[in-house]
Amino acid sequence: MRKSSGFLISEDQIRQRITELASQIEKDFMGEVPILVGILKGSFVFLADLMRKLNMDVQVDFLGVSSYGKSTKTSGIVKILKDLGTSIEGRDVILVEDICDSGLTLKYIVDLLRSRKPRTIKVCVLLDKKERKVVNINLDYVGFEVPDRFLVGYGLDYGERYRNLPYIRELFPEELSEAESDEK
Ligand code: IMP
Ligand code: MG
Repeated sequence: MRKSSGFLISEDQIRQRITELASQIEKDFMGEVPILVGILKGSFVFLADLMRKLNMDVQVDFLGVSSYGKSTKTSGIVKILKDLGTSIEGRDVILVEDICDSGLTLKYIVDLLRSRKPRTIKVCVLLDKKERKVVNINLDYVGFEVPDRFLVGYGLDYGERYRNLPYIRELFPEELSEAESDEK
């Protein structure tokens, strides 16, 4: 196995930051029972850790959307693969996502869910590639601002692999598929 030399967020750093995010959410939603909506598949690891740090009543649901496939570039096209199982009308929704890159995916989902008349919608992302935004999207809770590199681990995949890494790291050039490295 190759030693990591590029960008890395360790298990300890993730754990510590999630504890901070959770206490912020507890304060902001005191006395409410928000619905955490995880965007599949990337967010499930983050969501599972975040919700266990929340010392309050919450509900959980999931929204399945299409991803890039085996590519590191966004298509901007969002397809709903699995809809919510519960009504969010009049409810406080916290969208939970692994990473915001261009912002297109989250913008699409926020607009979609807003049409269902929740009381409030907040967005919680573990990672934000801030410099890559092409749309205006308000991120209420951000774990880490990250550089414009392709990251894997802790739920984040490349061609469905690496989601199970307990930390987040940069994809190594030799892990890129031949098709994509040829493009460069
Ligand atoms: P956006 O629509 O460009 O903001 O892309 C967001 C989605 O792209 C995320 O939900 C991820 O599934 C995926 N994505 C963006 N950047 C990365 C990355 O660095 N590693 C893995 N997946 C990523
Ligand atoms: Mg995703």
